Amino acid sequence: MTVFARDICYFNQEEVLDHPKKISLMKEKILAGDIYIAKRVYPPEMVLEIRDYLKRVGQNSLPNYHPIEEGAPNFHRMNIWDERSYVKACFHQFSFFPWNQDVFALFDKARDVYRIKNLITGLPENKFIGRTPEEGCAARLSFQFYPKGSGGMNKHSDPVDHHQIAVPMLIMSQKGKDFMKGGGFAEKENGIKVDVDAACEIGDVVYFNAQIPHGVDIVDPATGSRWLDFEGRWILLFAINKLADNTAIANARELI
Ligand SMILES: [Fe+2]
Repeated sequence: MTVFARDICYFNQEEVLDHPKKISLMKEKILAGDIYIAKRVYPPEMVLEIRDYLKRVGQNSLPNYHPIEEGAPNFHRMNIWDERSYVKACFHQFSFFPWNQDVFALFDKARDVYRIKNLITGLPENKFIGRTPEEGCAARLSFQFYPKGSGGMNKHSDPVDHHQIAVPMLIMSQKGKDFMKGGGFAEKENGIKVDVDAACEIGDVVYFNAQIPHGVDIVDPATGSRWLDFEGRWILLFAINKLADNTAIANARELI
């Protein structure tokens, strides 16, 4: 059964973390399609500092692909509507794994988001965020940059299984300032798109049922830009991915 987007609910992440009743209500509503937005989880200045760091990494080192497996290095790569992807997309991705060094201690900063993600799934709060994979899955912080003029992702739904019901997303750009058109959407039952980016500010974290049809409309389609300008839309996904050799969990599915 397909789940569609319903209402947007704003909440304070700290008020939910140690309250099992609030967690179970959040779980129930996310399963039904509500979109939860935690306001200002991260200071915008910190988000911009990380964005600037990634921009410099992207400008000054070669993009490369690595499969998701234990011990994989942090890496960045470009995906330009790659035919081999389960979901066709055009973006630049920077992946971080919990077993590697990183200058911003990103997994420490991400801990509370992963805790909520696990709790609403019904898992122990620190599941999957240790230094080694568990049950064929590993945490991955996936920064995604969608350049103006070409960045986007086809409508799809992501697998909901024992490992997750939502893939939290940190908003790292401001729609209306960093870009004007396109960006992240989640679809309602009547086909109307919820403009997720327009409902958020830099530093907010969005939680929604990964089964909801969602995608990224081309960012500022009439604007030309170059990859290395890094002008467009930035987000961070708090992912838990199956390792390359795990066939027990389904792949993401395109819906076009
Ligand atoms: Fe997705």
